[in-house]
Amino acid sequence: MAAKLRSKFVCQNCGTSYAQWLGQCGQCKEWNTLVEEVVDRVEEKRGTPQRVKSRIPKPIAIDDIPAQDGPRIALSDRELSRVLGGGLVPGSITLLGGEPGIGKSTLLLQTALRNPQLKTLYVSGEESEHQVKMRAERLQADAPTGLRRPQDANCLVLTETNTQNIFKHIEALEPGLVVIDSVQTLHTAVLDASPGSVGQVRECTAELMRFAKTTGVPIVLIGHITKDGYIAGPKVLEHMVDCVLQFEGDRDHAFRLLRPLKNRFGSTNELGIYEMRGSGLAEVDDPSQVLTGRREDRPSGVVVAATMEGMRPLLIEVQALVSTAVYGTPQRSSTGFDLRRLNMLLAVMEKRCGFRLGQKDVFLNLAGGFRVEEPAIDLAVVCAVLSSNADIAVPMDACFAGEVGLTGEIRPVTRTEQRIAEAAKLGFARIFVPKGTKAVEPVKGIDVVQVGRVDEVLGHLFG
Ligand code: TYD
Ligand code: MG
Repeated sequence: MAAKLRSKFVCQNCGTSYAQWLGQCGQCKEWNTLVEEVVDRVEEKRGTPQRVKSRIPKPIAIDDIPAQDGPRIALSDRELSRVLGGGLVPGSITLLGGEPGIGKSTLLLQTALRNPQLKTLYVSGEESEHQVKMRAERLQADAPTGLRRPQDANCLVLTETNTQNIFKHIEALEPGLVVIDSVQTLHTAVLDASPGSVGQVRECTAELMRFAKTTGVPIVLIGHITKDGYIAGPKVLEHMVDCVLQFEGDRDHAFRLLRPLKNRFGSTNELGIYEMRGSGLAEVDDPSQVLTGRREDRPSGVVVAATMEGMRPLLIEVQALVSTAVYGTPQRSSTGFDLRRLNMLLAVMEKRCGFRLGQKDVFLNLAGGFRVEEPAIDLAVVCAVLSSNADIAVPMDACFAGEVGLTGEIRPVTRTEQRIAEAAKLGFARIFVPKGTKAVEPVKGIDVVQVGRVDEVLGHLFG
Protein backbone atom coordinates (compact mmCIF):
# COMPACT_ATOMS: atom_id res chain seq x y z
CA MET A 1 0.00 0.00 0.00
CA ALA A 2 1.48 3.29 -0.98
CA ALA A 3 0.71 5.57 1.87
CA LYS A 4 1.05 9.28 1.34
CA LEU A 5 3.80 10.56 3.52
CA ARG A 6 4.08 14.03 4.81
CA SER A 7 6.70 15.22 7.17
CA LYS A 8 6.79 18.00 9.67
CA PHE A 9 9.42 19.36 12.00
CA VAL A 10 8.57 19.32 15.66
CA CYS A 11 10.36 21.19 18.41
CA GLN A 12 11.36 18.62 21.05
CA ASN A 13 11.14 21.26 23.71
CA CYS A 14 7.75 22.85 23.29
CA GLY A 15 6.04 20.72 20.68
CA THR A 16 5.46 23.41 18.05
CA SER A 17 5.53 22.02 14.53
CA TYR A 18 6.87 23.65 11.38
CA ALA A 19 6.71 22.85 7.70
CA GLN A 20 10.46 23.18 7.25
CA TRP A 21 13.56 22.82 9.36
CA LEU A 22 14.76 25.85 11.30
CA GLY A 23 17.79 26.29 13.52
CA GLN A 24 15.81 27.96 16.27
CA CYS A 25 12.28 27.32 17.40
CA GLY A 26 10.23 30.46 16.88
CA GLN A 27 8.03 29.64 19.85
CA CYS A 28 10.36 28.77 22.70
CA LYS A 29 13.57 30.18 21.15
CA GLU A 30 15.54 26.99 21.82
CA TRP A 31 18.25 26.10 19.31
CA ASN A 32 18.58 22.79 17.47
CA THR A 33 15.45 21.24 18.92
CA LEU A 34 13.57 20.61 15.65
CA VAL A 35 13.32 16.98 14.59
CA GLU A 36 11.69 15.70 11.44
CA GLU A 37 8.69 13.48 11.98
CA VAL A 38 6.76 11.71 9.27
CA VAL A 39 2.99 11.78 9.43
CA ASP A 40 1.23 9.06 7.57
CA ARG A 41 -2.01 10.73 6.66
CA VAL A 42 -3.85 7.64 5.51
CA GLU A 43 -3.04 5.77 8.69
CA GLU A 44 -3.77 8.77 10.79
CA LYS A 45 -7.46 8.55 10.00
CA ARG A 46 -7.55 4.85 10.54
CA GLY A 47 -5.67 5.08 13.84
CA THR A 48 -8.36 6.88 15.77
CA PRO A 49 -10.38 4.48 17.88
CA GLN A 50 -13.54 3.56 16.03
CA ARG A 51 -15.66 3.97 19.11
CA VAL A 52 -15.38 7.72 18.86
CA LYS A 53 -18.44 8.58 16.84
CA SER A 54 -18.55 12.10 15.59
CA ARG A 55 -21.41 13.72 17.40
CA ILE A 56 -22.16 17.37 17.01
CA PRO A 57 -22.60 18.82 20.48
CA LYS A 58 -25.47 21.22 21.10
CA PRO A 59 -25.45 24.03 23.63
CA ILE A 60 -27.24 23.04 26.81
CA ALA A 61 -28.44 25.13 29.76
CA ILE A 62 -26.16 24.66 32.73
CA ASP A 63 -29.15 23.86 34.95
CA ASP A 64 -30.12 21.00 32.65
CA ILE A 65 -26.78 19.27 32.92
CA PRO A 66 -27.22 16.44 35.42
CA ALA A 67 -25.00 17.02 38.41
CA GLN A 68 -22.65 14.12 38.41
CA ASP A 69 -20.36 13.67 41.28
CA GLY A 70 -19.53 10.32 39.82
CA PRO A 71 -18.54 7.45 42.01
CA ARG A 72 -14.86 7.20 42.63
CA ILE A 73 -12.82 4.06 42.71
CA ALA A 74 -11.53 3.65 46.25
CA LEU A 75 -7.92 2.56 46.66
CA SER A 76 -6.42 0.80 49.65
CA ASP A 77 -3.58 3.32 49.64
CA ARG A 78 -4.91 6.27 51.66
CA GLU A 79 -2.16 8.65 50.63
CA LEU A 80 -2.70 8.04 46.92
CA SER A 81 -6.47 8.27 47.33
CA ARG A 82 -6.21 11.58 49.11
CA VAL A 83 -3.78 13.08 46.63
CA LEU A 84 -6.14 12.12 43.82
CA GLY A 85 -8.95 13.95 45.61
CA GLY A 86 -10.65 10.89 47.12
CA GLY A 87 -9.99 7.95 44.82
CA LEU A 88 -9.67 7.39 41.10
CA VAL A 89 -12.21 8.95 38.78
CA PRO A 90 -13.48 6.56 36.08
CA GLY A 91 -12.30 7.57 32.64
CA SER A 92 -9.63 9.88 34.02
CA ILE A 93 -6.07 9.98 32.87
CA THR A 94 -3.33 10.62 35.40
CA LEU A 95 0.33 11.27 34.78
CA LEU A 96 2.81 10.22 37.45
CA GLY A 97 6.14 11.95 36.94
CA GLY A 98 9.41 11.55 38.77
CA GLU A 99 13.11 10.99 38.43
CA PRO A 100 14.38 7.53 37.55
CA GLY A 101 14.63 5.23 40.54
CA ILE A 102 12.41 7.31 42.78
CA GLY A 103 9.77 4.55 42.99
CA LYS A 104 7.11 5.24 40.36
CA SER A 105 6.88 1.65 39.17
CA THR A 106 6.90 0.45 42.76
CA LEU A 107 4.01 2.71 43.74
CA LEU A 108 1.79 1.63 40.87
CA LEU A 109 2.60 -2.06 40.97
CA GLN A 110 1.91 -1.95 44.67
CA THR A 111 -1.42 -0.26 43.97
CA ALA A 112 -2.24 -2.98 41.47
CA LEU A 113 -1.35 -5.76 43.90
CA ARG A 114 -2.96 -4.32 46.99
CA ASN A 115 -6.34 -3.57 45.43
CA PRO A 116 -7.57 -7.07 44.71
CA GLN A 117 -11.07 -5.73 43.95
CA LEU A 118 -9.67 -3.82 41.00
CA LYS A 119 -8.70 -5.76 37.89
CA THR A 120 -5.53 -4.07 36.73
CA LEU A 121 -3.62 -4.25 33.49
CA TYR A 122 -0.01 -3.27 34.08
CA VAL A 123 1.55 -2.44 30.71
CA SER A 124 5.31 -2.49 31.03
CA GLY A 125 7.41 -1.18 28.20
CA GLU A 126 10.52 -0.83 30.30
CA GLU A 127 10.84 -4.07 32.20
CA SER A 128 10.36 -7.69 31.23
CA GLU A 129 7.66 -9.86 32.78
CA HIS A 130 10.30 -11.47 34.99
CA GLN A 131 11.47 -8.15 36.31
CA VAL A 132 7.93 -7.16 37.14
CA LYS A 133 7.43 -10.51 38.84
CA MET A 134 10.56 -10.07 40.94
CA ARG A 135 9.37 -6.69 42.08
CA ALA A 136 5.92 -8.09 42.85
CA GLU A 137 7.44 -10.81 45.03
CA ARG A 138 9.33 -8.20 46.94
CA LEU A 139 6.19 -6.19 47.45
CA GLN A 140 4.18 -9.22 48.52
CA ALA A 141 6.81 -10.32 51.02
CA ASP A 142 5.20 -8.57 53.94
CA ALA A 143 2.18 -6.86 52.50
CA PRO A 144 -0.44 -5.93 55.09
CA THR A 145 -2.54 -8.94 55.92
CA GLY A 146 -5.80 -9.11 54.07
CA LEU A 147 -4.24 -7.60 50.98
CA ARG A 148 -2.24 -10.63 49.96
CA ARG A 149 -2.61 -13.36 47.42
CA PRO A 150 -4.28 -15.15 45.80
CA GLN A 151 -5.76 -12.06 44.24
CA ASP A 152 -2.78 -11.79 41.89
CA ALA A 153 -5.08 -13.20 39.23
CA ASN A 154 -6.53 -9.73 39.05
CA CYS A 155 -3.20 -8.13 38.24
CA LEU A 156 -2.24 -8.74 34.62
CA VAL A 157 1.10 -7.81 33.12
CA LEU A 158 1.53 -6.97 29.47
CA THR A 159 4.83 -6.15 27.80
CA GLU A 160 3.67 -4.24 24.77
CA THR A 161 4.45 -0.79 23.47
CA ASN A 162 2.16 -0.45 20.47
CA THR A 163 -0.92 1.50 21.46
CA GLN A 164 -3.27 -0.18 18.99
CA ASN A 165 -2.35 -3.59 20.42
CA ILE A 166 -2.74 -2.32 23.95
CA PHE A 167 -6.26 -1.11 23.14
CA LYS A 168 -7.15 -4.54 21.78
CA HIS A 169 -6.09 -6.15 25.05
CA ILE A 170 -7.95 -3.61 27.13
CA GLU A 171 -11.11 -4.19 25.14
CA ALA A 172 -10.82 -7.95 25.60
CA LEU A 173 -9.93 -7.84 29.30
CA GLU A 174 -12.08 -4.95 30.46
CA PRO A 175 -9.83 -4.02 33.37
CA GLY A 176 -10.81 -1.52 36.06
CA LEU A 177 -7.46 0.22 35.88
CA VAL A 178 -4.69 0.47 33.29
CA VAL A 179 -1.13 1.41 34.22
CA ILE A 180 1.32 2.38 31.47
CA ASP A 181 4.98 2.17 32.47
CA SER A 182 6.07 4.43 30.82
CA VAL A 183 4.51 6.80 28.32
CA GLN A 184 7.94 7.38 26.77
CA THR A 185 8.12 3.77 25.58
CA LEU A 186 4.80 3.84 23.73
CA HIS A 187 4.48 4.17 20.01
CA THR A 188 1.56 4.47 17.69
CA ALA A 189 1.50 3.28 14.10
CA VAL A 190 0.11 6.64 13.10
CA LEU A 191 3.49 8.32 13.41
CA ASP A 192 6.83 7.27 12.10
CA ALA A 193 8.85 9.01 14.77
CA SER A 194 10.72 7.01 17.38
CA PRO A 195 9.22 6.29 20.83
CA GLY A 196 9.91 9.02 23.34
CA SER A 197 9.89 11.81 20.76
CA VAL A 198 7.51 14.69 21.29
CA GLY A 199 5.23 13.59 18.47
CA GLN A 200 4.92 10.02 19.72
CA VAL A 201 4.39 10.90 23.34
CA ARG A 202 1.74 13.44 22.46
CA GLU A 203 -0.08 11.29 19.94
CA CYS A 204 -0.07 8.22 22.19
CA THR A 205 -1.40 10.26 25.08
CA ALA A 206 -4.12 11.70 22.88
CA GLU A 207 -5.16 8.18 21.83
CA LEU A 208 -5.14 6.97 25.41
CA MET A 209 -7.20 9.95 26.45
CA ARG A 210 -9.86 9.35 23.83
CA PHE A 211 -9.88 5.72 24.84
CA ALA A 212 -10.22 6.47 28.55
CA LYS A 213 -13.04 8.94 27.96
CA THR A 214 -15.04 6.60 25.75
CA THR A 215 -14.59 3.42 27.78
CA GLY A 216 -14.52 4.92 31.28
CA VAL A 217 -11.38 2.97 32.18
CA PRO A 218 -9.02 5.08 34.29
CA ILE A 219 -5.47 5.15 33.00
CA VAL A 220 -2.33 6.04 34.93
CA LEU A 221 0.73 6.95 32.91
CA ILE A 222 4.26 6.95 34.24
CA GLY A 223 6.41 9.73 32.81
CA HIS A 224 10.10 10.39 33.16
CA ILE A 225 11.46 13.67 34.29
CA THR A 226 14.38 15.39 32.66
CA LYS A 227 17.27 16.89 34.57
CA ASP A 228 15.52 20.25 34.77
CA GLY A 229 12.53 18.66 36.47
CA TYR A 230 10.19 18.69 33.50
CA ILE A 231 8.27 15.68 32.38
CA ALA A 232 10.22 14.51 29.36
CA GLY A 233 8.42 15.17 26.14
CA PRO A 234 6.28 18.13 25.48
CA LYS A 235 4.82 20.38 28.09
CA VAL A 236 1.52 19.87 26.25
CA LEU A 237 1.31 16.45 27.87
CA GLU A 238 0.60 18.12 31.19
CA HIS A 239 -2.20 20.10 29.60
CA MET A 240 -3.81 17.03 28.09
CA VAL A 241 -4.15 14.81 31.14
CA ASP A 242 -6.59 15.27 34.04
CA CYS A 243 -4.10 14.94 36.88
CA VAL A 244 -0.37 15.38 37.12
CA LEU A 245 1.25 13.84 40.17
CA GLN A 246 4.88 14.38 40.97
CA PHE A 247 6.79 11.80 42.94
CA GLU A 248 9.82 13.33 44.55
CA GLY A 249 12.34 12.92 47.30
CA ASP A 250 15.99 12.54 47.92
CA ARG A 251 17.22 9.20 46.74
CA ASP A 252 19.61 8.93 49.68
CA HIS A 253 16.72 9.26 52.10
CA ALA A 254 13.73 7.01 52.53
CA PHE A 255 11.02 9.69 52.34
CA ARG A 256 9.03 10.20 49.18
CA LEU A 257 6.50 12.94 48.55
CA LEU A 258 3.57 12.59 46.20
CA ARG A 259 2.42 16.02 45.12
CA PRO A 260 -0.43 16.88 42.78
CA LEU A 261 0.69 19.58 40.33
CA LYS A 262 -2.66 19.58 38.59
CA ASN A 263 -5.94 17.93 39.47
CA ARG A 264 -9.20 18.44 37.64
CA PHE A 265 -11.05 16.48 40.33
CA GLY A 266 -9.53 17.74 43.55
CA SER A 267 -7.24 20.12 45.34
CA THR A 268 -3.57 20.52 44.50
CA ASN A 269 -2.84 21.35 48.12
CA GLU A 270 -2.74 17.72 49.15
CA LEU A 271 0.45 15.87 49.88
CA GLY A 272 1.16 12.18 50.23
CA ILE A 273 4.13 11.02 52.27
CA TYR A 274 5.70 7.59 51.94
CA GLU A 275 8.72 5.82 53.20
CA MET A 276 10.61 3.47 50.90
CA ARG A 277 11.13 0.20 52.71
CA GLY A 278 12.60 -3.12 51.73
CA SER A 279 9.15 -4.31 50.74
CA GLY A 280 7.72 -1.31 48.99
CA LEU A 281 6.35 2.07 49.90
CA ALA A 282 4.80 2.48 53.33
CA GLU A 283 2.35 5.28 54.08
CA VAL A 284 3.62 7.70 56.71
CA ASP A 285 0.78 8.88 58.92
CA ASP A 286 2.68 11.08 61.28
CA PRO A 287 5.69 12.56 59.49
CA SER A 288 6.26 15.34 62.05
CA GLN A 289 6.98 12.72 64.68
CA VAL A 290 9.71 11.25 62.51
CA LEU A 291 11.15 14.53 61.29
CA THR A 292 11.53 16.24 64.62
CA GLY A 293 13.23 13.21 66.18
CA ARG A 294 12.84 14.10 69.85
CA ARG A 295 16.26 13.83 71.34
CA GLU A 296 17.75 13.71 74.80
CA ASP A 297 20.69 16.03 74.21
CA ARG A 298 20.31 19.63 73.06
CA PRO A 299 23.02 20.52 70.60
CA SER A 300 23.28 24.13 69.47
CA GLY A 301 22.06 24.99 65.96
CA VAL A 302 19.09 22.60 66.04
CA VAL A 303 15.64 24.16 65.79
CA VAL A 304 12.18 22.86 64.89
CA ALA A 305 10.14 24.71 62.25
CA ALA A 306 6.36 24.50 61.99
CA THR A 307 5.81 24.48 58.23
CA MET A 308 2.93 23.61 55.93
CA GLU A 309 3.20 21.29 52.96
CA GLY A 310 0.09 22.20 51.03
CA MET A 311 -2.73 21.65 53.52
CA ARG A 312 -0.68 19.48 55.79
CA PRO A 313 1.22 20.83 58.79
CA LEU A 314 4.69 19.43 58.97
CA LEU A 315 7.14 19.94 61.80
CA ILE A 316 10.68 19.58 60.66
CA GLU A 317 14.10 19.86 62.21
CA VAL A 318 16.43 22.55 60.83
CA GLN A 319 20.14 22.19 61.54
CA ALA A 320 22.76 24.88 61.10
CA LEU A 321 26.49 24.88 61.60
CA VAL A 322 28.36 28.15 61.74
CA SER A 323 32.13 28.16 62.00
CA THR A 324 34.96 30.56 61.26
CA ALA A 325 36.02 30.36 57.63
CA VAL A 326 39.41 28.75 57.28
CA TYR A 327 40.01 30.02 53.78
CA GLY A 328 39.45 33.51 52.47
CA THR A 329 35.96 33.12 51.05
CA PRO A 330 33.40 31.81 53.51
CA GLN A 331 31.36 28.85 52.33
CA ARG A 332 27.60 28.76 52.31
CA SER A 333 25.84 25.53 51.68
CA SER A 334 22.26 24.50 52.11
CA THR A 335 20.32 21.26 51.69
CA GLY A 336 16.55 21.45 51.40
CA PHE A 337 16.44 25.24 51.61
CA ASP A 338 17.04 27.83 48.90
CA LEU A 339 20.65 29.02 49.08
CA ARG A 340 19.82 32.53 47.89
CA ARG A 341 17.25 32.87 50.61
CA LEU A 342 19.83 31.71 53.16
CA ASN A 343 22.21 34.41 51.93
CA MET A 344 19.45 36.97 52.21
CA LEU A 345 18.68 35.92 55.79
CA LEU A 346 22.38 36.09 56.67
CA ALA A 347 22.50 39.63 55.30
CA VAL A 348 19.48 40.58 57.41
CA MET A 349 21.13 39.15 60.55
CA GLU A 350 24.32 41.04 59.76
CA LYS A 351 22.80 44.38 58.87
CA ARG A 352 19.71 44.54 61.09
CA CYS A 353 20.72 42.55 64.12
CA GLY A 354 24.44 43.28 64.18
CA PHE A 355 25.78 39.72 63.98
CA ARG A 356 29.17 39.35 62.29
CA LEU A 357 28.59 36.44 59.94
CA GLY A 358 30.52 37.75 56.95
CA GLN A 359 33.63 35.71 57.75
CA LYS A 360 31.79 32.58 58.83
CA ASP A 361 31.09 29.33 57.01
CA VAL A 362 27.38 28.56 57.22
CA PHE A 363 25.91 25.12 56.54
CA LEU A 364 22.21 24.42 56.68
CA ASN A 365 20.38 21.12 56.50
CA LEU A 366 16.75 19.99 56.73
CA ALA A 367 15.89 16.60 58.19
CA GLY A 368 14.87 13.63 56.08
CA GLY A 369 15.91 15.02 52.70
CA PHE A 370 12.87 17.29 52.61
CA ARG A 371 12.77 20.50 50.61
CA VAL A 372 10.77 23.36 52.04
CA GLU A 373 9.93 26.32 49.83
CA GLU A 374 7.58 27.96 52.25
CA PRO A 375 8.86 31.28 53.69
CA ALA A 376 7.43 30.47 57.13
CA ILE A 377 10.54 28.39 57.75
CA ASP A 378 12.70 31.56 57.78
CA LEU A 379 12.41 32.16 61.50
CA ALA A 380 13.61 28.67 62.34
CA VAL A 381 16.54 29.06 59.93
CA VAL A 382 17.56 32.35 61.55
CA CYS A 383 17.30 30.86 65.05
CA ALA A 384 19.31 27.80 64.04
CA VAL A 385 22.09 29.94 62.55
CA LEU A 386 22.25 32.28 65.53
CA SER A 387 22.11 29.38 67.98
CA SER A 388 25.05 27.69 66.29
CA ASN A 389 26.93 30.98 66.00
CA ALA A 390 26.62 31.66 69.73
CA ASP A 391 26.92 27.95 70.54
CA ILE A 392 23.88 28.15 72.79
CA ALA A 393 21.18 25.52 72.38
CA VAL A 394 17.61 26.56 71.66
CA PRO A 395 15.24 24.96 74.19
CA MET A 396 13.85 21.80 72.65
CA ASP A 397 10.32 22.57 73.77
CA ALA A 398 10.05 25.50 71.34
CA CYS A 399 9.18 25.61 67.68
CA PHE A 400 8.90 28.42 65.16
CA ALA A 401 6.82 29.73 62.27
CA GLY A 402 7.41 33.10 60.63
CA GLU A 403 8.66 34.76 57.50
CA VAL A 404 11.60 37.14 57.99
CA GLY A 405 11.52 40.38 56.01
CA LEU A 406 14.41 42.52 54.84
CA THR A 407 14.26 44.83 57.85
CA GLY A 408 14.34 41.95 60.33
CA GLU A 409 10.59 42.07 60.92
CA ILE A 410 8.64 38.87 61.28
CA ARG A 411 5.81 38.66 58.80
CA PRO A 412 2.52 36.81 59.09
CA VAL A 413 2.13 33.27 57.81
CA THR A 414 -0.89 31.27 56.69
CA ARG A 415 -2.82 28.69 58.70
CA THR A 416 -1.33 29.49 62.08
CA GLU A 417 -4.00 27.46 63.91
CA GLN A 418 -3.02 24.30 62.13
CA ARG A 419 0.65 24.82 62.90
CA ILE A 420 -0.11 25.44 66.55
CA ALA A 421 -2.33 22.37 66.76
CA GLU A 422 0.35 20.16 65.23
CA ALA A 423 3.00 21.53 67.60
CA ALA A 424 0.70 20.93 70.58
CA LYS A 425 0.01 17.41 69.38
CA LEU A 426 3.72 16.66 69.36
CA GLY A 427 4.17 17.99 72.87
CA PHE A 428 5.89 21.32 72.23
CA ALA A 429 5.41 23.80 75.08
CA ARG A 430 6.02 26.99 73.09
CA ILE A 431 5.50 28.14 69.54
CA PHE A 432 6.75 31.48 68.22
CA VAL A 433 4.45 33.07 65.67
CA PRO A 434 4.41 36.52 64.01
CA LYS A 435 2.96 39.44 65.91
CA GLY A 436 -0.51 40.39 64.83
CA THR A 437 -1.58 36.83 64.16
CA LYS A 438 -5.31 37.26 64.53
CA ALA A 439 -7.14 35.86 67.55
CA VAL A 440 -5.42 32.53 67.95
CA GLU A 441 -7.57 30.30 70.10
CA PRO A 442 -5.63 29.20 73.15
CA VAL A 443 -4.64 25.58 72.74
CA LYS A 444 -4.17 23.47 75.84
CA GLY A 445 -0.58 22.78 76.77
CA ILE A 446 1.11 25.19 74.41
CA ASP A 447 2.18 28.78 74.85
CA VAL A 448 1.74 30.91 71.74
CA VAL A 449 4.36 33.66 71.76
CA GLN A 450 3.82 36.49 69.29
CA VAL A 451 7.01 38.18 68.13
CA GLY A 452 7.48 41.21 65.87
CA ARG A 453 11.20 41.23 65.23
CA VAL A 454 14.10 38.78 65.15
CA ASP A 455 15.79 40.53 68.13
CA GLU A 456 12.69 39.94 70.24
CA VAL A 457 12.88 36.19 69.67
CA LEU A 458 16.50 36.22 70.76
CA GLY A 459 15.49 37.97 73.97
CA HIS A 460 13.01 35.18 74.66
CA LEU A 461 15.42 32.40 73.85
CA PHE A 462 18.78 33.47 75.14
CA GLY A 463 17.70 36.04 77.72
P1 TYD B 1 11.36 2.04 40.90
O1 TYD B 1 9.95 1.85 41.25
O2 TYD B 1 11.98 1.07 39.95
O3 TYD B 1 11.64 3.50 40.38
P2 TYD B 1 11.14 4.21 39.03
O4 TYD B 1 10.09 3.37 38.43
O5 TYD B 1 10.64 5.54 39.53
O6 TYD B 1 12.33 4.36 38.17
O7 TYD B 1 12.16 2.06 42.29
C1 TYD B 1 13.47 1.75 42.31
C2 TYD B 1 14.11 1.91 43.66
O8 TYD B 1 13.31 1.57 44.76
C3 TYD B 1 15.28 1.00 43.66
O9 TYD B 1 16.41 1.79 43.91
C4 TYD B 1 15.03 0.01 44.73
C5 TYD B 1 14.01 0.65 45.59
N1 TYD B 1 13.06 -0.30 46.18
C6 TYD B 1 13.03 -0.49 47.55
O10 TYD B 1 13.79 0.13 48.30
N2 TYD B 1 12.09 -1.35 48.09
C7 TYD B 1 11.23 -2.05 47.30
O11 TYD B 1 10.41 -2.81 47.81
C8 TYD B 1 11.28 -1.86 45.88
C9 TYD B 1 10.36 -2.62 44.98
C10 TYD B 1 12.21 -0.98 45.37
MG1 MG C 1 10.22 2.32 36.62
